[in-house]
This record gives sequence, C-alpha cells and structure tokens, in this order.
Amino acid sequence: EQTPAVDLALFGALGDLALRKLYAALYHLDRGGLLASDTRILGLARQDIDAEAFRERVREALDKSVDAKEREDEKVDRFIDRLHYLKLDFASVEGYREIAQWQAGRRTPLTVYLSVPASLFGVICKNLEQGGCLDEESRVVVEKPIGYDLESSIEINDAIGSVFDERQIYRIDHYLGKETVQNLLALRFANPLFGNQWNQSQISHVEITVAETVGIEGRWGYFDQAGQLRDMVQNHLMQLLCMIAMEPPSNLDADSIRDEKVKVLKALRPIEGERLATDVVRGQYISGTSGGKPVPGYLEEEGANVDSRTETFVAFKTEVSNWRWAGVPFYLRTGKRMPEKLSQIVIHFRQQPHYIFDPDQRGLASNKLIIRLQPDEGINLQVLTKDSGLDKGMRLRPGPLHLDFHKAFPKARIPDAYERLILEVMKGRQYLFVRRDEVEYSWRWVDKLIAGWESRGLPPKRYPAGSWGPVSSIAMITRDGRSWFEEY
Ligand code: BG6
Repeated sequence: EQTPAVDLALFGALGDLALRKLYAALYHLDRGGLLASDTRILGLARQDIDAEAFRERVREALDKSVDAKEREDEKVDRFIDRLHYLKLDFASVEGYREIAQWQAGRRTPLTVYLSVPASLFGVICKNLEQGGCLDEESRVVVEKPIGYDLESSIEINDAIGSVFDERQIYRIDHYLGKETVQNLLALRFANPLFGNQWNQSQISHVEITVAETVGIEGRWGYFDQAGQLRDMVQNHLMQLLCMIAMEPPSNLDADSIRDEKVKVLKALRPIEGERLATDVVRGQYISGTSGGKPVPGYLEEEGANVDSRTETFVAFKTEVSNWRWAGVPFYLRTGKRMPEKLSQIVIHFRQQPHYIFDPDQRGLASNKLIIRLQPDEGINLQVLTKDSGLDKGMRLRPGPLHLDFHKAFPKARIPDAYERLILEVMKGRQYLFVRRDEVEYSWRWVDKLIAGWESRGLPPKRYPAGSWGPVSSIAMITRDGRSWFEEY
C-alpha cells in the first residue's frame, strides 16, 4: 500500500527529540521505500541558519542515531534532499506566510509536527490558521506532556481544538508505537486460548512493570515539575493497562478501540482515603550504582533543588471496577535507576479448583503469561509439567513455553515506535494515537492521587539507585501473599 505524499512541517526541528528520534525514523521509512517520492520536510526553528547548515545538522544527527550498517550513503543523500529549513519566530504570524508559500501550488496536505513545549501549541496553531497554512486535510501531531493536570490539559486541548478537528489531531504516546504493545491486541483478540480466559474467573492478578536504568539525564528542571506519575503513569502505563483490560473492540477503527480504552479509564478505582497509606508507594532514588558504576542520588543531580519531594518511582495497586475485572488487583510500578531496563506485563492465572498433587507443592504458582515489551521482546507462558526422573514421583516443575520474537522472526527488524507512528500519521490512521477524552480521564485519576499525596504531605521513600524501589513497594504486594515477578 502506497504511503500518500505529505508536506511535513516540523516545529522544534533542532530540538532533542527531533535530532535523537524523528529524523532517524523518517530516514528509516525512506530507506524502506515507505515515503512517497514527493514527500518533503520543512524544519522550523528559531536558529538563524540556512538550509545547507540545517541539512548538515541532520546528517550529523543521523550519524549518531542510525546504525552504521543501516546508513547507506545514497539513501542518506536522497533523504537529506527532502529537507528544507525556515527560521521562524513561532509567535509572529509573518513567518507563517512563508510556510504557506512553501506549499503554494501543491496538492499535498500539510502535516504539522509540534515537537515543542505545550505552552506553544496554542500560539502556533492560531498562527498557522491566520497565516493561511491549513485546510480540511491538514493534520497536527503533538507530543506529550499534554498538560500538568486535568485543568491545564483542557486548556491545551482547547487551544489545539479551536483550530483543528479531533479527526485531524494525532496525540503521540510513543508506547503505542511499540510493536510489542500493538501485539497485545493480536495476543488477546486473535488467540481464543487467551481471549477466553481473560477475566476475573481465570486471572488472579496482573502486574505491569516499566523499569528504567537511566536517571534524569540532564532534564532535572522538566522532570522535577512532573515526577514519575505524570511523566510515565499518566500516559504510558495507563495505555498499557487499557490494552490489557479493555473489552474487545468491534473492529480496529480508531474510535472503536479508543471507546473501549476510555471505558477502562472511567472504571479505574481511584486511590484515595485509607488506600493512600496501603495501595501506593512513592520513591526517590539516593546514590547507588547503575551498571556497576556509582551514580549520584536524585537530589545530587546537576541542577537539583535539594528540597525536592518529586518522586522518581511509583508503585500502586488498583482495580478496574467492572464485570470482567472485579476483584482482580492490578499492580503497577515504574521507576528511574532500577537494576535493569525492563517493560513487562505478567498475567497470573488462578489455581485449578481441585488439587491432587504433592501438598507441599500447593503453593507452586499457577500459569503465568509474561509479555516482555522491551528488551528481548517475546511472550513466555509458564506451565507446570512433571519433574523428570524415576525418583520424582508426581512432583511438578514450572517451565516456559517461549516465543522470542528475535529468534522466531530473525529477518524482521523491530522498528522504532516513531517510525510506526509517523507512518500512521501519513496514512491518516488514528488508532495508535490518544483521543482527547483518554487524556482527560487519565488526568482525573492522576489528579486525585496527587491531591491525596498533597493532603498527607509525606516525602517520598528513599531507595538506592540500582534497586527495585523502596522496600514498602515490595511490602505492598507481599501483604497480599504475592510478589513482583522477577525471573524470565
Ligand atoms: C518518556 C519519558 O515519555 O519515556 C522519559 O518522558 C522516559 O522519562 C521514556 O525515560 C521511556 O521511554 P522508553 O521508550 O525508553 O521506554
């Protein structure tokens, strides 16, 4: 299927995200023959440089962000030829007329990519409109964070919405662009073996872990305003939870899927009252190690305010209060400076109703489905088999049925999330993008939790860099007679 041609106007063209991810993603699409031959890219930024200097910057960015074996001179040159540049004062409508001129006489719709702080979305959208850059077919792509709480997200969405219709807006959550996250749809809705078991009568609990080894990476100012709950849970973890918990959509249309996700967010039990003491743990890392090397604590990072109470780790327990999931706890955790980079979902199935094996082994865990999103993408189903050997009687032993994506599909390259997402924008398909009401329901839940934390006024618990978070996050789950799954 041919990708339609687009004129892509990239705001924040010399920003960190663009240089690290976006040009690499566009280059990979081009290299794979997925960009139409007359697709063009217009870089927009405040820097006073000319198109040649801009192209040079992008070339250097590709040297860093694309594997040497995937950098083919001829293809890089062809990609670089698509690039144009315009120095733009985002706040003044004048320059926007030049964007309109750049497009004059073309029949390709303008796709605007806002890789800039959300505080600029409103003014940019207005100026695009007044500068005569837009029509019915134009699209706008926006990056997170969409606000800081419900109220600010409404303001931002109103500002975009005053110029673009919802059908023209593509809100990125890059987790939805990850191949393994899309695989959750295939796993659940193409496999009756799982699809039929996917409810409270068969599943005892669900775990979602998104652990990172990185610390704050020079983003202290931004991160400290947000914290791990706003930076990771409000968007990425909520999306994962929705993909696991949603009802089967009637088809793969964007709104069919998003309607079901919204229902999950509406049914998510808030953490408030007594639960604030038992069902959630906030942590902040102190010095420790990462990859065997000593690393500073959060309050010792460059630019840190030593009184900060911002969390770099959060773990909580919640429930989706509906017919399918009543009584099934969902345990989620995410943190910086964990021992390994790991995004994983574990579905724990219930025990058989009647047990006939060795009574000592009664506690042996039942089936578990481990979905590894990154790294070592794969799916692992833990089953119980008979331990081999004449002296073992009918002793049981857990073992894996394992699908390792890299081994099973050795030729397939797992594309970066941004490749998939940009391609979907070009094709005009919104199912991997977040609808306004999803953002808002998610903020409602997060805001309630933050308000609860503020009313309690407690500082985050400390944990050493390189550990799995504060011990109370382990206690939170062991209190229920369970533990975080750590082997694979
Ligand atoms: C971003 C967060 O959205 O996701 C970062 O702002 C985080 O703090 C990153 O490090 C994690 O993404 P990934 O793809 O590396 O899991």
